[in-house]
Amino acid sequence: MAQSSVTMEGASVPSAFRPASNEPSGLTAVRLKPPARASRPDGWIDWVGGAGECVHGWAFSPDEAPALISFFYYGELYCTAFVDEYSHDVEATGIGTGVAGFTVPLPCPSNQFDPRFFAARHRDGTLLSRSVNFLGWRPANFSSIANFDLLSSPFTSSAYLEFTSRCNLRCVYCAVSQPTYVGQDIEASVLDEAIRVLQTRKVDHIQVNAHGETTMVPDWHRQINALAAVGLDLRIITNFARLLSPEELAAMARIRRICVSIDTHRPEVLRKIRRNVSLGNILINMANTATKAAELNLPCPEFIWNCVVTDKVASDFLDYLRFGITLGVKTFFVANLTKHEDVAGADNVKHVTTLPDAELKQFAQMLDEGCRLVDGIGGYIEVEAGLTDTVQQELDARGLR
Ligand SMILES: C[S@@+](CC[C@H](N)C(=O)[O-])C[C@H]1O[C@@H](n2cnc3c(N)ncnc32)[C@H](O)[C@@H]1O
Ligand code: SF4
Repeated sequence: MAQSSVTMEGASVPSAFRPASNEPSGLTAVRLKPPARASRPDGWIDWVGGAGECVHGWAFSPDEAPALISFFYYGELYCTAFVDEYSHDVEATGIGTGVAGFTVPLPCPSNQFDPRFFAARHRDGTLLSRSVNFLGWRPANFSSIANFDLLSSPFTSSAYLEFTSRCNLRCVYCAVSQPTYVGQDIEASVLDEAIRVLQTRKVDHIQVNAHGETTMVPDWHRQINALAAVGLDLRIITNFARLLSPEELAAMARIRRICVSIDTHRPEVLRKIRRNVSLGNILINMANTATKAAELNLPCPEFIWNCVVTDKVASDFLDYLRFGITLGVKTFFVANLTKHEDVAGADNVKHVTTLPDAELKQFAQMLDEGCRLVDGIGGYIEVEAGLTDTVQQELDARGLR
């Protein structure tokens, strides 16, 4: 009840004490003001809201007994309630003890509720007045975000912190390889401020990259250590292209989930797609990170393998999963290729749906079998919906299903 006055419109008296219409449109009784039954007001319906979206108001009892109020919607009685809530604001009016508030559930889902057809009456039929606040209430409308504060939640579930959008590689399919691409580093002050805000918003986890390669930023490992030191749960996607130093490994070991970009287990194919990447370096970095975690008495990070499926790797998909499983990887992300312009002079890749009939059919079967394989070892595999859908559509279009 106290909330209805002060917090809704910032006034120091209940909103019900301010002028308002009292006509319960759609009901039989139409009155300009409540009856002068006594020298004090009979009560008001004040506001809608709070936990569970209820109707709030207050009513004075005509006698010593607690007021019993009947609530109507479209003229139909739908509940009754004794007023039994204390309100400092009501007591401050000098009338009664302040125990005069009520809270009742809405008669219908809030998005259908129309306050004009809501009424409340005392036992003797006297209508409660309705505040401007109450009559002006409308369900939240999210059809437009123009006036909606997207940051209004006090929490942030996850955040991407891009230390840099520059990269030490030029994978053929990546936007970084496009001639117009420009990468940049985050400013130190922006990073500090972002971390401060995310901490206060109790962020669940932070992915420390988006585009670009975190491990190419000088001192990236010190930033990671600082984030880990304040208890933030960290994740990363990395190319693991360069052999990491012991200090860098110590930081990497503090990242809980490490997603490694590795499209194939065949070194020569990988080198063509993710140019200059050595499969050996990737595997050494994985092993060294796990070793460092053990040395520091940290839990071993979870390694995830991310594969961008293209015409160059599709036929090896099952062997790729088996290779990862042999190394202890249990989680696989299987990504759909976003095709950019071909890169001049490179061994460009194509979307898997460009494969000839037999190979496309075979890949579709491998996807199913791969899911069973990973399920079978108690692992987790996530195939991007865009990949599954486009493969199925292409099979349909070619009459191959
Ligand atoms: C953009 S990279 C950034 C992180 C890091 N440089 C790396 O490669 O792991 C993140 C992921 O996006 C994937 N990726 C890049 N270009 C893509 C594209 N055109 N389509 C689908 N995935 C792509 C990469 O293979 C990588 O797994
Ligand atoms: S390593 Fe990552 S960011 Fe760099 S070019 Fe390859 S996919 Fe793009």
